[in-house]
This record gives sequence, C-alpha cells and structure tokens, in this order.
Amino acid sequence: MNRIERLIGEMSLAEKLGQLTMTAAGHAVTGPIVAADATEAIKAGTIGNLLNLFGADRVREMQRLAVEESRLGIPLLIGFDVVHGHRTLFPIPLGEAASFDPQLWALTAREAATEAAADGLTMTFAPMLDVSRDARWGRSAEGPGEDPWLGARMAEAKVRGFQDADLCAADALAAVAKHYCAYGAVTAGRDYASVDISERTVHEVHMPPFAAAVAAGVAAVMPAFTDLAGIPMTANGALLTGWLRRRLKFDGVIVSDFNAVGELIRHGIAADLTQAAALALNAGVDIDMMADAYRRGLPTALERGWVSMADIDASVRRVLQLKARLGLFDDPYRRGKTPEAAPVIAARRQLARAAGARAIVMLKNDGILPLAESVRNLAVIGPLADAAAEMRGPWWGAADPEDPVSVLAGLRGMLGELRVPHQPGVEIDGENVAGIAGALELCAQADAILLCVGESAAMSGEAASRAHLGLPGRQRQLAEAVLERARALRKPVIAVLFSGRALIVPWLIERADAVLAAWFPGSEAGNAIADLIMGRLSPSGRTPVSWPCAMGQVPLFYGQRPSGRPGDPMDRFTSKYLDAPDAPLFAFGHGLTYGVFALSDLRVSADRVSENDTVEIRVDVANRGARTAEETVFLFTHDKLASVARPLLELKGFGKIRLNPGQSGTVTIFLDANELCFLGPDLEPVFEPGEVEILVGPCADRSRLLVATIHLVPPCP
Ligand code: BGC
Repeated sequence: MNRIERLIGEMSLAEKLGQLTMTAAGHAVTGPIVAADATEAIKAGTIGNLLNLFGADRVREMQRLAVEESRLGIPLLIGFDVVHGHRTLFPIPLGEAASFDPQLWALTAREAATEAAADGLTMTFAPMLDVSRDARWGRSAEGPGEDPWLGARMAEAKVRGFQDADLCAADALAAVAKHYCAYGAVTAGRDYASVDISERTVHEVHMPPFAAAVAAGVAAVMPAFTDLAGIPMTANGALLTGWLRRRLKFDGVIVSDFNAVGELIRHGIAADLTQAAALALNAGVDIDMMADAYRRGLPTALERGWVSMADIDASVRRVLQLKARLGLFDDPYRRGKTPEAAPVIAARRQLARAAGARAIVMLKNDGILPLAESVRNLAVIGPLADAAAEMRGPWWGAADPEDPVSVLAGLRGMLGELRVPHQPGVEIDGENVAGIAGALELCAQADAILLCVGESAAMSGEAASRAHLGLPGRQRQLAEAVLERARALRKPVIAVLFSGRALIVPWLIERADAVLAAWFPGSEAGNAIADLIMGRLSPSGRTPVSWPCAMGQVPLFYGQRPSGRPGDPMDRFTSKYLDAPDAPLFAFGHGLTYGVFALSDLRVSADRVSENDTVEIRVDVANRGARTAEETVFLFTHDKLASVARPLLELKGFGKIRLNPGQSGTVTIFLDANELCFLGPDLEPVFEPGEVEILVGPCADRSRLLVATIHLVPPCP
C-alpha cells in the first residue's frame, strides 16, 4: 500500500476533514497572526492547509507544527494570491494580456513563483481566467480581457510559468485556475451578482481558458462565488464533476473560494452549514476555504447519509496527492530554504520594467511622442504621478507600498529633478480642488505636460465594480483645466491613464495630444513609462478589451454574432444606438507604436482544408516610419454560413515582428484547422464544410483587415 493510502487508512474523520480545510493565517491583512486555536488545530491534525501566510521563517514554523507535532505528520499546503507577482509586481493581468506575449506571460509567472516559493509558499490562487466583457466589473483587472482564445493562451502560459516542468521543484508553485466559471458575466458588472447566460456562451466564451489550464496540467481549480442560472458554482456538480472532472479529465484539487461553501446558505440553496458542506462535497469541492463548513458540517452529513466516506476519502486522496506532487512529504521545508541572491532580485526588477512597458497601450499619438531627449521642462501633473503604492494595482501580494517606482521618480531618474516639476492638482477621489491653480502654474514653463490620471488601485479588483467609468473625484475638472491652459499656451498634453479596466473618457482622448493606457504597471511603473515616453522603447501593447466610447455600450466585445438587421446609419430599423456609435472608440487589439506599419500580400497555404490540416498564413509588413518598433498582427476567422450563427470575428492567432525604419518582413501564423470546429446545435464540436474567411490585420476593426477565403472540406476517404 502506498503512503497516501496508508495515511488515509490511519486517519480519523477529524483528521480527514482537516485535510479538506484551509484557514487564513491573517498575514495579508493583520500581520503574521495564526490564531492560537489554529495552531493547536494544526498540531491536532485538524487543519491541513493555510492561506495568507508567507515569510520563510513563519512558514517553516507552521510546517514544523504540522510535520513534527501532529500525529500523522502531514505537511501543510500554504496558499496566497500571487496574482501578478509576490514582492516584485509585474503589470496587472489585464495589462499583461495587452502585451500579447505568451513568453512574457510565462516568464513573469515563473519569476513570481520563484519569489513566492522563496517566501515559503506552495500554492498561488492564480491564474485568474475569467473572460470579461463588462468594464464595470472590477475583477476584469485580474484576468485576460474579453477574448476566450486569448484567455486560453494566457492560461497555458501562466500554468507553465507557475508550475514549471516539475511541481516538486523548490521554486514551483501549484497554480489554481479561477474562478470556474463565467464569473465575468455577473449581472450588470456588479461583483458577486448572479450569472445567467446560455449554456453555449458558458462553453464558447467562458470555458476555453479553463480547458486550456487543465490541458496544461493545472494543479487546482477554484469555483466562482457566483451562481450560474440558480446553481452556485460551489455546488455545481454538473460543471465541477460532470464537466471539469469527467469531460475535461481534471484530476487535481478543487478548492472553494473564500467562505463560498458557507455562502451557499445565503444563495438560498442550503439551510445550514451541514447542508452546505454536503452540497459542496457532493458537487466535487475538495477543500473548504474559510467557511469551516466541512469540519463542522460533514460529520452530521455523514451520519445522515448525505455524503459518503468514499467521497471524503477521494477528496483527501486528491489533496494528499497534490502535497506529494509538490514534494512536501519528502522535504516539507524545501521552499524558503535559501534566501534569494541580489542579482536574481535585480534581474526580476528588470523583467518587471520590461513587462511594464510591454503592457502599456498607446491609444493615441498625434506625433508628440516620443519626447525629444532635449525636453527641458516636463510638467508632471495629476494625482497618479507621485503615487508609488497605487502603481501596484489590485492584488499587490506581499509588495511594500513604498517600493514601486512612481511616474515622477522614473522621469526624474531619467531627466533630473529640475526638469520635471510636479503638482498633483487634486486627489484621486476627493473633492478638494484647491491644488488646481498650482498645477496650472506649471504649464507656462513647460515644454510638454504629462497628465497622470485614473483610478486608485482599490477601484478595481474584487468588490470594486463601478457604475461610472470616467475619472473619479475632481480629476476631470483638473484635466479640463490643464487641457484648456495648455491649448492657450500651445503646449502638448500627454495623458497617462491608470486603471484596472477601460475608462470611458472620450473627451480626454480627443483633446490630449497623446494617450497611454498604462493599467497598473507594477513595481517598475515609472521607469517603464519613462522608457516609452522618452523613446528608449516603442510602445507595443494592444488593448485586450474593446474600448467603449459611452457607458451605454457596455458590455462591449468584438466577437458579436451577426444581426438580421446589421447597423446602417441610413436605415432606422437596424441594430444601433440613436445616441452613440455602436463601434468602440478603440477596437480590440488597437495600440499604436513609434513605427508606421503597412500590411500587404496576405497568403494562405491551402485553399481546401480538412480538419487535421494546418494552414500557414503569411502577410508582409513594412515599417514606413522613422523608428524601430514591433508590430502585432492578428488573425481572425469568420465562418459565414454555419448551422449555428458564428461571431463576425473570432481571434485564432497573432504574430509579431520588429522592424527598423524602412525594413520589411513577413509574419507567419499557423492555424490548426481543428480550431475552426465550433459547438453545433447540440453543443457538441463539429467541423462543418464550407467557406471560412481568414482576416489579418492590426486590430478587430474589420475595415482594416486583409481578407482571404479558405474552403473547409471533409477529410479524404
Ligand atoms: C477571491 C479569490 C481569492 C481568495 C483568497 C477571494 O475573496 O475571490 O480570488 O483567491 O479570496 O484570497
């Protein structure tokens, strides 16, 4: 009998339920406090997993209690939200998505895991894979944006990065794909609200990133807090056991979200903790995070015959298997053994700087950027300019609030303090406008004005939905005053937007000379922004969400299905708004560079394609600008005639090319024809013969795409 079966055989019910329980150590919020009763419970073997504890010494001490002082000596799993870095922060995930760079996604996850593992952690509650098409939802900031295919690629890269080749390695973390599933579709973008969408949308839009994470070997999955058409995900046996385990063959651990098992009572499907615990276990949830429902409820549920010992054992087995895969039985202290060397930490900061720059999307540039090195006086105005802590964005892990490089510090580091005067003008979210006058005074001496405005870090992330997506507080008043003054003085204004979502500020975008969407760039924010503004690097980020021009357009996404009455400005009875455009202000994939790129000569390697073929798609790209830059080329498809109406565009690939001025090259993108399968009328995948358009270009604006056609044919007999 192997170790795991032997342990299960020896365990009391209380010890088994301990393995199915995860308790907060409270470190993240209140400091390193493990409640005394939790310490005793670890020794008694009745708490088997912790969250929110980090620091090699503290972790070691807790692990010691479990391994050396509990009867069976089973090590603890210790999890934390290492969402976009641990102490060193990379851009928020939505920003990282904008880099469209799978290698970077994997690399930053690898570095985050290495740093967190050195701090004793074994598990990260990441990647967050919720596709989100509603900018009101604050958690959009944590995920890959609006596109399922992009989300799937990010899922693979992140799982690979966090877990590396071998989970047992001292620098590998168990990844947790979350929040399964369709959390991004909360009603009206309000966090924790109900989700009620079609089964087709669940599977076509929200499931692909999770399927990709499972295929990449993700160690664990976390169900969403939300219900799906009345069945909370924490109790959704059809999707947890039926789909995730049986259909996708996921054999890892399912860990509930924070108190989600207990919340089944408020959802109105469980009368008490006993019933809640039984519902969650029977649905497939292995670990109860923070509700203490399994320890308190499952003994009674077992007596009543609502759950079986076999199911409890199966969950315990999965938890112990994960601990074994993490190498914890062989050496529970393997993580956090060796402090990191200074060069490793310095190299990570360099990566954060590069990643920060790659995440930033240049929405607009009338030609003012990059600024000339000779710029004598750059007035930096706005409440986000000298705001190091805000640069962390939501889910800042263990990062010190003072650690990030602010925009001001980055620019002053590059240009010197005297050349970069600063006034905040207003607070991020306050009513005091007394500082506006001082900010305006800076404009007269300036060669250019950098306006740093947007949200605070706490305005996105969990429990941070917003109904108004403009600038909070009195920032608009500040920005309008600066724009006005700058126009009178004929000074250019560059706006840098900080946010966890697309902000709806068309007035600002129209009037500023250049606009950068910086999201929250992380620890090296200011240096990354300075690198772009001063032209040390060309911007290369592309928006992973369609950028709205009016609140009424939200939810907004490019992958819409055709209408029987496509919008036509000349025909009233067509699909459109009377008072706003139906097109976004910036299409998905939009992002300018310091190059000027022209695409030509789209070639497709085959005209007739069957399911197992791979098509090679090539397009020539020329840089007609005066600076070296990297262009991103997107591949979309459109199946015009199918048994189920297909979206007008579907992302299926992208490629990048870096070109010097005057240089040309070719981008090649491979398309596996089985990616053209879709869910037929019965929701089973089909490959339907017929014409498919291949569309290639710089963003999801159809008018800018080159088009070719291929014919799908049945395989040769
Ligand atoms: C969030 C999760 C997170 C968990 C643990 C919950 O409130 O929804 O995303 O992993 O807390 O911190």
